[in-house]
Amino acid sequence: MGRLEEIQRRRTFAIISHPDAGKTTLTEKLLLFGGAIQVAGAVKSNKIKKHATSDFMEIERQRGISVATSVMGFEYNGVQVNILDTPGHKDFAEDTYRTLTAADSVIVVIDVAKGVETQTEKLVKVCRMRKTPVIVFINKLDRSGKDGMILMDEIEQKLGLTVCPMSWNVGMGPDFKGIYDSFNKRLRLFSAHGKQTEDDTIEITDLADQRLDKEIGEKLADVLREESELNTAVYPEFSREAYLSGDLSPVFFGSAINNFGVKEMLECFIDIAPPPTPRETDTRIVMPEEEKFTGFVFKIHANIDPKHRDRIAFLRICSGTFERNKYYQQIRTGKKLRFSNPTAFMASKKNVVDQAYPGDIVGLYDSGNFKIGDTLTEGEKMQFKGIPHFSPEQFRYIDNADPLKSKQLNKGVDQLMEEGLAQLFIRTSNNRKIIGTVGALQYDVIKHRLEHEYGAKCSYEPINLHKACWISSEDSTALKTFVDRQKRLMAKDKDGRDVFLAESQFSLQMIQDQAPEIEFHFTSEIQ
Ligand code: G4P
Repeated sequence: MGRLEEIQRRRTFAIISHPDAGKTTLTEKLLLFGGAIQVAGAVKSNKIKKHATSDFMEIERQRGISVATSVMGFEYNGVQVNILDTPGHKDFAEDTYRTLTAADSVIVVIDVAKGVETQTEKLVKVCRMRKTPVIVFINKLDRSGKDGMILMDEIEQKLGLTVCPMSWNVGMGPDFKGIYDSFNKRLRLFSAHGKQTEDDTIEITDLADQRLDKEIGEKLADVLREESELNTAVYPEFSREAYLSGDLSPVFFGSAINNFGVKEMLECFIDIAPPPTPRETDTRIVMPEEEKFTGFVFKIHANIDPKHRDRIAFLRICSGTFERNKYYQQIRTGKKLRFSNPTAFMASKKNVVDQAYPGDIVGLYDSGNFKIGDTLTEGEKMQFKGIPHFSPEQFRYIDNADPLKSKQLNKGVDQLMEEGLAQLFIRTSNNRKIIGTVGALQYDVIKHRLEHEYGAKCSYEPINLHKACWISSEDSTALKTFVDRQKRLMAKDKDGRDVFLAESQFSLQMIQDQAPEIEFHFTSEIQ
């Protein structure tokens, strides 16, 4: 198969959800379809356990495994599907956001009973910012939950997506009869535990068809007719173009655990989801079909075991063919690097790859060369854009707890920040170091790693802050006045950029209103 065909047959995406909505279960069903795993439970056992006694110890134990689940690939109907894992329980971190930058599209899983939850809101915001195509899967229809119409409203309002239902539920919970696939005009009857047969799919092109009443009962048939009519009136028709530009999100209903509605979604996904998309750099747009290799590092996974200090840098390939043992240039440093064991991940198996194509993710063993956002090319000087830092939401002062080890502490903190574990800010008013993170668990990880890998000790002091945001203005005098006036709440990030530390959502809003000439940014390009 030629390079262009290889590119066209790739679909690289991430599944996102709030914890417990069913992301792991759905991933597993997709992998089962693709034959990448043989038994249910294979992915689940890799998940950070929710009720573990010490989450941190659990994370440590799981680290090796979670490398393998960072990317899970399988083939379905000739299409190479790459699923990127977005850690979402206690291990929710900036990495989770940044993984989205390596995906070409996403599937959002929503629990029918809980509706749109916070973590989903945060992640979809990043997708909207990037105009990533989104498919929505409403899960757990075998349980009672919110009415379909109410959910559609919630998705539109909270997630800011324009929806287009491709299927619609017939009842739910104990009354769940199945789904009507309005796209293909088929009724699919539900039976638990994935035991559907071909007889459970009935072509019904016209909802007035009396067979509908026979199959699902008069009452539910009438509800379906009514709701379908409303849907046609309210929601736009599916348009692939609108989906690909992130302006329209197809919605599916189902029950992942019962393997119901999953295959329909997968088949539609394969049809409509984008193959590897063009990527922006600081000099030009890179097309996946270009002959020369380019790629960027979006995640670095460090081994906590001090005896094995190697790290794995995850590289998203953007163009050309990546080849084992070939020299590539790391643009930031100008260094020529080659990789003898680039690794691809196929579910729980790891394979050394000789070649990889745009859309693929390869793991590169690294002894400390890489930084998040690094670009690799065959020599062209460019830097991929859109691999940002995200505004942290948790803050603590970090102090040196062993005066004899301050050098080690500084080195450790610098390196851990380069891995993208957290962000460092220096507060202007007192020159103290602040560590900002997206998830609280990162503080334990940093402390542990500083101690075990760098022989340094740190202590934390809580600070009551709501968000850190980067600021800029076209009016340099206004910017200077703002920075001077807000000195108490100003800090610098590690690249020396101005950062405003907001104490609450309310005060941030007030200050934004008072200083319209200042722009507040909630992401910052990595430099
Ligand atoms: P997550 O990765 O998004 O956190 O969710 P996960 O797949 O682990 O699912 C969370 C819980 O919801 C699991 O139950 C799972 O079995 C259940 N679940 C997933 N899909 C469905 C569905 O379609 N219907 C119903 N009724 N439940 C579903 P658990 O009790 O927390 O875990 P387990 O004991 O089943 O492993």
